[in-house]
Amino acid sequence: MSTDRVQIFDTTLRDGEQSPGASMNTEEKLEIARQLVRLGVDVIEAGFPISSPGDFESVRKIGAEVGDAVVVCALSRAIPNDIEVAVDALATAKRPRIHTGIGVSESHLRDKLRISEDEALERAVTAVKFARNLVDDVEFYAEDAGRAVPEYLYRVIQAVVAAGATVVNIPDTTGYAYPEVFGSLISGLIENVDGIENAIVSVHCHNDLGMATANALAGVKAGARQIECTVNGIGERAGNTALEEVVMALKQRPDVFGADTRINTREITRTSRLVSGITGILVQPNKSIVGANAFAHSSGIHQDGVLKERSTYEIIDPADVGVGGSSIVLTARSGRHALKHRLSELGFELPDAEFDRVYAAFLELADKKKEVYDEDLEALVGESERTLNEVYHLAQIHFTSGEPGIPTATVELITQEGEHLIDSSHGTGPVDAVYKAINRIVDVENDLTEFRVEAVTRGIDALGEVTIRIKSGDGRIFTGRGAHSDIIVASAKAYTNALNRLLVSQAPTVPEEI
Ligand code: KIV
Ligand code: ZN
Repeated sequence: MSTDRVQIFDTTLRDGEQSPGASMNTEEKLEIARQLVRLGVDVIEAGFPISSPGDFESVRKIGAEVGDAVVVCALSRAIPNDIEVAVDALATAKRPRIHTGIGVSESHLRDKLRISEDEALERAVTAVKFARNLVDDVEFYAEDAGRAVPEYLYRVIQAVVAAGATVVNIPDTTGYAYPEVFGSLISGLIENVDGIENAIVSVHCHNDLGMATANALAGVKAGARQIECTVNGIGERAGNTALEEVVMALKQRPDVFGADTRINTREITRTSRLVSGITGILVQPNKSIVGANAFAHSSGIHQDGVLKERSTYEIIDPADVGVGGSSIVLTARSGRHALKHRLSELGFELPDAEFDRVYAAFLELADKKKEVYDEDLEALVGESERTLNEVYHLAQIHFTSGEPGIPTATVELITQEGEHLIDSSHGTGPVDAVYKAINRIVDVENDLTEFRVEAVTRGIDALGEVTIRIKSGDGRIFTGRGAHSDIIVASAKAYTNALNRLLVSQAPTVPEEI
């Protein structure tokens, strides 16, 4: 059976970043981009350059970093100035692509853009021609195509292909479609649009009804050859098509799709963890492919079956997505060599100074625990990375609590200039007391909007990982994380981390509509 190639267009850094609270700084985006290259995606949508100086800079740096390994794409509205700024940001990219487009549904034309069908079509064509004069690779998105009148969509797509679009993106922007209908939309497009063979048809689905993966795959069955997706399915509202789901569906079912990708699936788990760690968006345990329980068997009947033959209850070999296989048990008796080896197997090549910090933290943890698991190591590396470039470093914390008793905390923070600042407070509980004491030192307006504690590994001695979100005075959301075997200390670290991110952030100026 012949197998067609489906291109994977990753938009974790653009649509994924539109998840509330998922904003990433340039360094974090670069780290994800490097991993996306290892994963083998075909296109990285690196940002929306006109939306903020930070997005512009990220697109520029990612273009310079990845060379010709992948296409680097930048989003723009169908507005010449947007396109020019996107092209400037892509100046460093060896394989640049402009992604421009406009709404095509009745709702977008009437209520958002307030223009006629003909005007929108003209703007679309003008934008594509304008972009094609500046770069060779131009993708057009027909926003809200999932709710558009098919005949009008075909007219727009025919015109933009004639104007030079190399890829045409058919987004189900609001997650309204379902597989049969979306598949028909794509096959209708392929049958009715003259010249469609000159462009790649792309699908971009949102998950409002939980059908983003099914709709994208229906698009592939109907002839689409590019899927737009994000790692862990993060994205605006209910998110986008999950990269790991479509990639593994195509790999597992060649009989159904007759199409595959060039993704190195063994990098999937590592990529998922990296994105979750950086964005602070946790993966639900039962999430397909990358959830903690995706390859866990609990009932006796299942365990018996899997022990006799893995495939009785597993359709995917966990090794194919990079899960499992560890045989080195790390304890307080393990030396630097064993730790370095395991970290390297997990994909962490740390500079000496950072390794020393992680090793010291490892010994401290190993003293408290019988066994240090991979998840503990990932948390320790994350913790060490978070302490780089801190505005305030949490030097020490002391707290008391009880019933009866008044929860009280004293904290010491050290500024970048080396000043030691100490303050105390009481509160409704120990975390509240710690946060109030920190607030007395770091006097910056914010509201705590989310607070989550999780055990990184099993057992009473597990590392606790705290993820919090705070809202700044101007309404922006910042995520903070902290890991420690004492959850009050982890909470203090998470809060300091979020405040540090708030303090170094620049106010983004995102246009109201895309
Ligand atoms: O969902 C959507 O329509 C988009 C476009 C900007 C491609 O994200
Ligand atoms: Zn989208």
